[in-house]
Amino acid sequence: MIQCTSVTYRYPNGQGIENVNVTIPKSSIYLLAGANGSGKSTLLKVLAGGLKEYSGTVSVDGLNLKETHTKKKRSFTVALSPQQPETQFSLPTVMDELRFTAHAIKQPVDNDLESNILELLHLRPFVDSSPFDLPPVMRKLLSLAIAAVIPSPFIALDEPTAGIDQNHKSLVLQFIKFLHTYKGVIVVSHDLDTFLPLASNIGIMEEETIIESVKTKVFLDKFILGAYKPAIARPFIIPRIARYLINKPASSIDELAGKIKQTYRKK
Ligand SMILES: Nc1ncnc2c1ncn2[C@@H]1O[C@H](COP(=O)(O)OP(=O)(O)O)[C@@H](O)[C@H]1O
Ligand SMILES: [Mg+2]
Repeated sequence: MIQCTSVTYRYPNGQGIENVNVTIPKSSIYLLAGANGSGKSTLLKVLAGGLKEYSGTVSVDGLNLKETHTKKKRSFTVALSPQQPETQFSLPTVMDELRFTAHAIKQPVDNDLESNILELLHLRPFVDSSPFDLPPVMRKLLSLAIAAVIPSPFIALDEPTAGIDQNHKSLVLQFIKFLHTYKGVIVVSHDLDTFLPLASNIGIMEEETIIESVKTKVFLDKFILGAYKPAIARPFIIPRIARYLINKPASSIDELAGKIKQTYRKK
C-alpha cells in the first residue's frame, strides 16, 4: 500500500503538488486522471523517489520512502516509466538499458520476467539496437519494459499509450494485466475509455491536489448521480461509462450518453 500524507512539492517557480493525501491499495490498478498541469506527473515522480525535496510523508508498504532511498542497498519501491521516454536513455543497447537497474542495485536479473516482458512488448528483435534508433512507439514500449523489470512492489506508468497506435495499444493492455499479477500498477492517462474498464480504483487530480480517490464502482455510481462538477465529469462521458450504465434503464448507448451530457449541462 502507498500512503501519502500532506505531500507538497514545489518546483523553483512555485508550481507542483499541494497537500496530497491518498492511499493506493497494494493489489490495485489505480487510474490517476486529471487535466493537464493538475500534478499527475509530479506526484508519480515523488512516489518514484525522483523528487526528494517534498514535505509530508510517503510510505510504501509501511516503509517511509525517505528511509528506503537512503539505505545502502537501494530498495525500489515505485518504478516509474516517465511521460517522455527519451529523457531516460543513456546506454548503447536496449538490453543494457533493461538490465541497468538490476546491475546498479547488484541484484540478479529475473530472466523469466525479462523474457516475458520482451515478448509481450515485441522488443525481442531490438535487444542489440541503440534505444535512440528505435521508432518512437518502440521507445515508449522500452520505457515501459525498463520499469517493469525493476523488482518493486509498484509500477507507475505515465501516459503509457500516448503516441501509441491501436495495434500496440493492445500490447500495452496485455502488459498491464500481466504486471498486475506481480505488483500494484498506477496508470496516468487521458485515455479513460481504454483504462477505465481495467481500473480497480480511480484518483482525480485538480489544481495540484487529489480531490477524489475511490473504487471504480463507487466512482461510477457517484458519477451517474451527478456528484461531480462538469469540469471533472466531462472527460468521463465516454462509451465505456455508457456501457456500464446500460444496465440501468435506457435503450441505447447514444441515448444514455445524451442523458449524461444533459445532466452535466444543467449543473
Ligand atoms: N519541471 C518543471 N518545472 C517547473 N514547473 C513544472 C515542471 N513540471 C511541471 N511543472 C508545473 O507543475 C504543475 C504540475 O505539473 P505536472 O505534474 O506536469 O501535471 P500533469 O502531469 O497533470 O500534466 C503544473 O503547474 C506545471 O506547470
Ligand atoms: Mg503529465
